Amino acid sequence: MHVAVTGSSGLLGTALRAALTHDGHRVTRLVRRPPSAPDELAWSPAEGRVPTAALRDVDAVVHLAGEGIASRRWTAEQKRRIRESRTRGTRVLAEALAAADAGPRVLVCASAIGWYGDRGDEPLTEDSAPGTGFLAEVCQAWEAAADPAHAAGLRVVHLRIGIVQTPKGGALGRQLPVFRLAGAARLGSGRQYVSWVSLDDVVGVALFALSRDDVAGAVNVTAPNPVTNAEYTATLARALRRPVLPLGVPPVAPGLLLGRELAPELLYSSARVLPARALAEGYDIVDPLLVPALRRLLART
Ligand SMILES: NC(=O)c1ccc[n+]([C@@H]2O[C@H](COP(=O)([O-])OP(=O)(O)OC[C@H]3O[C@@H](n4cnc5c(N)ncnc54)[C@H](OP(=O)(O)O)[C@@H]3O)[C@@H](O)[C@H]2O)c1
Repeated sequence: MHVAVTGSSGLLGTALRAALTHDGHRVTRLVRRPPSAPDELAWSPAEGRVPTAALRDVDAVVHLAGEGIASRRWTAEQKRRIRESRTRGTRVLAEALAAADAGPRVLVCASAIGWYGDRGDEPLTEDSAPGTGFLAEVCQAWEAAADPAHAAGLRVVHLRIGIVQTPKGGALGRQLPVFRLAGAARLGSGRQYVSWVSLDDVVGVALFALSRDDVAGAVNVTAPNPVTNAEYTATLARALRRPVLPLGVPPVAPGLLLGRELAPELLYSSARVLPARALAEGYDIVDPLLVPALRRLLART
């Protein structure tokens, strides 16, 4: 396959590029800066520019680009950037692919389990109802922005990605130095569900979605065994040989750093998301259980 990737410099994009290349596929990077290598093409989600003509011999696009969800405090302006970078970028791409008379017929888009909102211990599959809250609304609008591609007959897949586990970055990458230094602390009651997924499984499901002509629509990208935050904290502490602190961290503490809205939505909300579709379609999960997954991932650090 010849695959174009947006957001290819990010945590997931870097891993996906490596896996695609390793498997013998050709990768073209859609970059927002001036291209600096033969495998790069410029696009501008903000200005609505997609190099449609240059994409004529591309089979599929994997769209990962978006403003970091937790990179800054959620001011009104930052929330706008988070929403617009996803809805506008996706719409621009979907409309360009829909209007092209040749080129990619497959669009695999990142989405997130934030789509389901804060749902306690309810098991959530792709058939569950949408949730509420800022992240849920962003995810729903993000997925809807790909409608023009779907309407034009492209195969569109929405990867509803869980909390990605890799020591290289993301939630785990940020937690490791803190846990190593100060010990592990659960967040609040620790009863909220953490729908984790290893980076290898995110890449695995993306490759699976690219290769399977019959897979379209939403696909949850999570491990089949989500755990509570208390279980997650205890497991990570054991893997790092660090103690678990007796008191949970109240929302007000990370709230001071991240903002009043971001901390509750991202750290204290509960989503018990199951990869029903991926399992039903025969995807073979690399890391189904947290204990061996963390042991394997942390052995590399
Ligand atoms: N990591 C997770 O745990 C996780 C969980 C659920 C969902 N996701 C979603 O999966 C996608 C990829 O995640 P990731 O962890 O790889 O993210 P990341 O490391 O933050 O990378 C995202 C990439 O998007 C591009 N980008 C940054 N700001 C942008 C903006 N304002 N407008 C347009 N593009 C922008 C950048 O690539 P270029 O500079 O190359 O354009 C950046 O490298 C994201 O949409 C994310 O929301 C991630």
